[in-house]
Amino acid sequence: MLSGELSSVNTLIAQRMASEHAPRIPEVTAHLVEAGGKRLRPMLTLAAARMCGYDGPYHVHLAATVEFIHTATLLHDDVVDESEKRRGRPTANLLWDNKSSVLVGDYLFARAFQLMTETGNLDVLRILSNAAATIAEGEVLQLTAAQDLTTTEDIYLQVVRGKTAALFSAATEVGGVIAGRPANEVRALFDYGDALGIAFQIVDDLLDYWGTTATGKNIGDDFRERKLTLPLIKAYAKANDEERAFWKRVIEKGDQTAGDLEHALVLLNRHGALEETRNEALAWADKAKAAMLKMPQSEIREVLIDLNDYVVARLT
Ligand code: IPE
Ligand code: IPE
Ligand code: MG
Ligand code: MG
Repeated sequence: MLSGELSSVNTLIAQRMASEHAPRIPEVTAHLVEAGGKRLRPMLTLAAARMCGYDGPYHVHLAATVEFIHTATLLHDDVVDESEKRRGRPTANLLWDNKSSVLVGDYLFARAFQLMTETGNLDVLRILSNAAATIAEGEVLQLTAAQDLTTTEDIYLQVVRGKTAALFSAATEVGGVIAGRPANEVRALFDYGDALGIAFQIVDDLLDYWGTTATGKNIGDDFRERKLTLPLIKAYAKANDEERAFWKRVIEKGDQTAGDLEHALVLLNRHGALEETRNEALAWADKAKAAMLKMPQSEIREVLIDLNDYVVARLT
C-alpha cells in the first residue's frame, strides 16, 4: 500500500546522501544505505501521514529526514559501541575508520535538517530537532550507566526512551502534524510511537542475548560492551552471592574470558530474566496498540497495528 511512497523516499535518500565535494561521503553512505535496513521509521511517517489524510508531498521529505537521522545515529553508535557488524555487513568504522563514521554521521545529520526545512513547517522542525537532541541524551546517559550494576529499570527506560523511542514517536507525530490533525490525535500518534519504540529496543536488547545472525549484527555485543540492558538488570536483581561475583567480574571489572557469555546466558535463563524481559516488550506493544486504537478506524490504522505485531514477532 505504501510501497510506491517508500520508493520515493528511497530515491530522495539516494539523491541527498551523495556529496560532490568529498568522495568518502558517498562511499560510506552507499555502503550502509545499500545494505538495506528495515526502513521501519520512514514507514511509520508515511503510514501516519496517510492515515491522517495528508495529500501533500512533504511526508516523503519527513520520512527521508527520519531515516537520515536514524542512519547518522547508527554510524555514531557503531563507533561508540565498537561494533563490527551492521545490516549484515562490516561496519563503516571497521571498513574505513572512526573518523569517517563520525564525520559522515555529522554530514547526514546536517542533510536531515536541510530536508526537513523544505517542508516549511516549524512544528515538524521543532519535533524532529527535539528528537535529535533526545537521542543524543539517551546515548550519553547509557554511556554513563554502562558497567554500573546499580542501574535501575527506571534508568534503563529513560535510556531507551531517549536513544530509540524518541525517533519512533517523532516519526509518527510529524505524520499527524503535517496533516494538521487535532491535538488529541497527535498525542495518540506520539504515544503509539513511544511505546512501539520502547518495545522495539527491549526486543533488540533481548535478541542481543538470544538472537541469531538474522539480526545482521553480532550477538553478545551488549555483554562485551558491559551494557546494563533489561535482561541483565533483572538477572542481577535476583542473583545470589556467587552470581553477583560473576557479574561484578565481567561487567564492572570487564574481565571477560571464553565461556563467560554462555555462563551469562545460563544465569539469565535460570532467573527467568529473558522471559520477563519478553513479557515487558509484549506489554509495551499492547500499549502501542491501545494508543493506535484511539485513532479513527481506517485501513492504514490496521497496517500500523500489524507493524506493532511484527516488532514483537521478531522474538518468536
Ligand atoms: C537499529 O535499528 C537501532 C536500534 C534502535 C536497535 P533497526 O533495527 O531499525 O535498524 P535497521 O535500519 O533496520 O538496520
Ligand atoms: C541503538 O542502540 C540506538 C541508536 C542507534 C541511537 P543500540 O546500540 O542498542 O543498537 P544496535 O544493537 O547497535 O543496533
Ligand atoms: Mg550499538
Ligand atoms: Mg549503542
